[in-house]
Amino acid sequence: MTTPSDPASLDVLRQRLAAVASLDAAALAAEEIAVLGRKQGELTHQLKALATLALDEKRARGAALNALKLEFEAAVVARRAELAHAASAAEARDIDLTMPGRQLWVGTRHPVTVVIDEIVAIFREIGFAVALGPEIENEERNFGALNFPPDHPALDMHDTLYLDPRGAEWPVGERLLLRTHTSPVQVRVMRAGPPPYRVVIPGLAYRNDPFDASHAPAFAQIEGLAVDEGVTFVDLKATLTHFARRFFRPDVKVRFRPSFFPFTEPSAEMDVSCAICGGIGCAACKGTGWMEILGGGMVHENVLRNCDVDPERYTGFAFGMGPARMAMLRYGLPDIRLLYGGDMRFLSQFGAAGR
Ligand code: DAH
Repeated sequence: MTTPSDPASLDVLRQRLAAVASLDAAALAAEEIAVLGRKQGELTHQLKALATLALDEKRARGAALNALKLEFEAAVVARRAELAHAASAAEARDIDLTMPGRQLWVGTRHPVTVVIDEIVAIFREIGFAVALGPEIENEERNFGALNFPPDHPALDMHDTLYLDPRGAEWPVGERLLLRTHTSPVQVRVMRAGPPPYRVVIPGLAYRNDPFDASHAPAFAQIEGLAVDEGVTFVDLKATLTHFARRFFRPDVKVRFRPSFFPFTEPSAEMDVSCAICGGIGCAACKGTGWMEILGGGMVHENVLRNCDVDPERYTGFAFGMGPARMAMLRYGLPDIRLLYGGDMRFLSQFGAAGR
């Protein structure tokens, strides 16, 4: 350290000031403390020592030291900015402009979801509400209350996936299973309060089926139920015909064929003129000109009774359809695995525009 009155001390400080411009970051930080530091800094020390000098000397030297201090501070700030700029420029040089860009994923709705939303919207327009139920059900609601006799072959047909490990020891009717259809939600709706009911019930159903061109072990269904005083088969036909015209096209032809379900009597299946060929006959409709789209019928009086609804006073209709099947018919898809197989290259082509 130089003595306060030593003129050489100012020259030394000026040399150090000149050197600031070539310091690296670490040296700059050290030099800043060594010169400007509030306790040990050389300049600080010199400024404090002014007190010991005679007045004129104090004035002249004080002015020189203060000017030097300002210059030193400015030099440190400038050098620090220069170093920071150089560091970010070096970083920029490290960016590989030939790398492929990062892509943002834009989600699309699943085509089956698109179809479900549309079907639900059509029924909401004509006064149906949406009801939902759990995917785990018991045998009683899935089968018993729906008028399946315990030995009915439909029980095998449904290839039920049972959940309860206690299996046969568990009281029949209470065994838990993955619902094989959305129809048990009809039971839940009816047992929750008195008629009228007018609901559509979208949801997943499960069967122990192989995953092939026309079956999936888990698949969507949409159930419908309308019960009130004086509901007839005419209401069923009118409602479902209106639905087919809205979903496919206004000039679609429909036909009802007799069928069988344990929970409806009479039962029917509904066909629409082929959406692909318009009824002439093509591969999609196997040359018949017709495509089956849903099953339905008048709610069986045993079902009404099982759900505490008086069949002397109330009648109603029910129906069920598979939205994946509806999507296949509308888009002419040959294989349900396209929809339920999870291949994004296929699925992301749908739904982007909201339909
Ligand atoms: N539950 C039937 C199935 O999974 C579909 C069905 C048919 C539902 C007729 C109904 C109905 O409500 O009336 O195959």
